[in-house]
Amino acid sequence: MGRTIVGVFIVLFVTAFSFFVYFSIKSFSIESIQAQEPYTKPNYHLVLVPEEINNDYWKLVEKGARSAAEKLGVTLEYAGPKQANLEEHMTTIEMAAAAKVDGIMTQGLSEEQFTPLINNTIQKGVPVITVDTDAPKSDRIAYIGTDNYYAGLLAGKALLADTEGEVNVAIITGRFDATHQKLRVQGFKDAIKEQERVKVTTIEDSHITRIQAAEKTYKILQEYPEVTAFYGTSALDAIGISQVLEQMGKTDDVYVIGFDILPETIELLKAGKIEATVIQKPYEMGYKSVETMVQILEGKAIDEINHTETRVIHREDLPLQENEILEVIEK
Ligand code: BGC
Repeated sequence: MGRTIVGVFIVLFVTAFSFFVYFSIKSFSIESIQAQEPYTKPNYHLVLVPEEINNDYWKLVEKGARSAAEKLGVTLEYAGPKQANLEEHMTTIEMAAAAKVDGIMTQGLSEEQFTPLINNTIQKGVPVITVDTDAPKSDRIAYIGTDNYYAGLLAGKALLADTEGEVNVAIITGRFDATHQKLRVQGFKDAIKEQERVKVTTIEDSHITRIQAAEKTYKILQEYPEVTAFYGTSALDAIGISQVLEQMGKTDDVYVIGFDILPETIELLKAGKIEATVIQKPYEMGYKSVETMVQILEGKAIDEINHTETRVIHREDLPLQENEILEVIEK
């Protein structure tokens, strides 16, 4: 009898102990799972390197990029030269790569320097997307921006459609060494090449500033009084050109076609001081560049070439809708 009781006690003890061990392990493992961070997407750190940080055009690119970054919960840094400067631009990219950021979005400004720079950055494990200006010979993963040759072609066709008789065109381009500016000039030249009546008289660069665009306009008008049209290939060129034409009382005699729809450009178009401008979509470029970079980091398939819309507008096309200017992306 005594043995039976002892036996029952032993069985009860072993059972109770087993339950204790089982539930201790279970509750510990639940606690340890609960103690872990809930799953969150990695906070990607992306860098957008513009040609010039305070340029109104690039601020629109930044605005688009920031709104995508906010929506997708990633950190975006906007860093680059205060005034367009190739070396500073390249150093910013190198520094971002050395800091091992998760992705860089930048212009493919000049083929010669940017192709090896982009390739080195990618070799270091940092993906690169080109925005606004492509570097097609590099290993950049995607390009988001205007088809710059086509944009130049559109500008040339618009000038042909808007003018009659002999036209001597002076071109003011943002910079001679930038791929997209070269393409905008080439497209324009190709559009007018069949037309004997339209000739390119001279070409100068503005270093993408309105001041230099104005200075070069003045210089051109002194040297080539026969010039009857100007084509400005970067955002502030037509603004500088029209300023000088106005000062010289030549607004009505000289045709001006420029690039972009910054608020000032729209005002000049409205006032008839610029005849036409080539629209680009900087906000959308910024937005899509962040969106695409996140897709790349998540291993999703993306399109290599993403051309944003470009077209020519005249005064008759005004007013543009607010969302046309900011290109607000509802998604
Ligand atoms: C170009 C940009 C450039 C800007 C300068 C735009 O038309 O697409 O690359 O930085 O003009 O103002």
